[in-house]
Amino acid sequence: MNKLVAGNWKMHGLSSDLAEIKAIDDASRRYPSVDVALCVPAILIERASRAVPNFAIGGQDVHYADKGAHTGCVSAAMLVDAGAVLTIVGHSERREAQRETDAEVKAKAEAALSASLRVILCVGESLEVREAGGAVETVLAQLAASLPDHADAARLAIAYEPVWAIGTGKVPTNDEIEEMHAALRRRLIAAYGDAGRGVRILYGGSVKASNAAEIFAVPEVDGALVGGASLKAADFMPIVAAAAVGG
Ligand code: PGA
Repeated sequence: MNKLVAGNWKMHGLSSDLAEIKAIDDASRRYPSVDVALCVPAILIERASRAVPNFAIGGQDVHYADKGAHTGCVSAAMLVDAGAVLTIVGHSERREAQRETDAEVKAKAEAALSASLRVILCVGESLEVREAGGAVETVLAQLAASLPDHADAARLAIAYEPVWAIGTGKVPTNDEIEEMHAALRRRLIAAYGDAGRGVRILYGGSVKASNAAEIFAVPEVDGALVGGASLKAADFMPIVAAAAVGG
């Protein structure tokens, strides 16, 4: 199983940043054993996918409906039409700011998979929950409620992103990551049988060049979802290189 290193550009990226996307595409060809992707703002997807036609460009969210009266939203068919091959669903910033529920995240994942997109489904606990000792239980409950009922394992990835580690420079210990990823793996096997072994489990939250190799060496870490450090090739490519060594 190739490691997957996906960048989440969040609300960053203008036409002037297409050169950075081209640089990441170019440099990624040196690492054929790593699947590299960039999830860019919806409005940039078409330009990005035209600029780097053989590189995986994705969205950061998708609506669960095919079409309809949903002002400001983007459907899975629209993402595909613009050239996306994957999408993130259930990122904690959307679960919080847009009050997305597990049920909505599940419906979004199912809509995206039905449209042939690959999906990165995010789960993660708050600092309060981690400090109270309820991290594994909380994240497993989130997964159980947001996991698509049927999924082609090869097209689904789970990103474990502790909310308190996103954009903060703080990361869980290797033991904490290992415990969570092992629990997620067991739950995926319970849900999908043997195919659950083929779902990649990514770690996300303050991944950077200096900690990537250590994180990729943790059992059941099949890649990373990278925010801030994915915006520039110079920061992102060392993470891809670390995944190639670890894989
Ligand atoms: P970060 O973001 O790498 O900037 O912490 C990760 C994410 O939110 O996916």
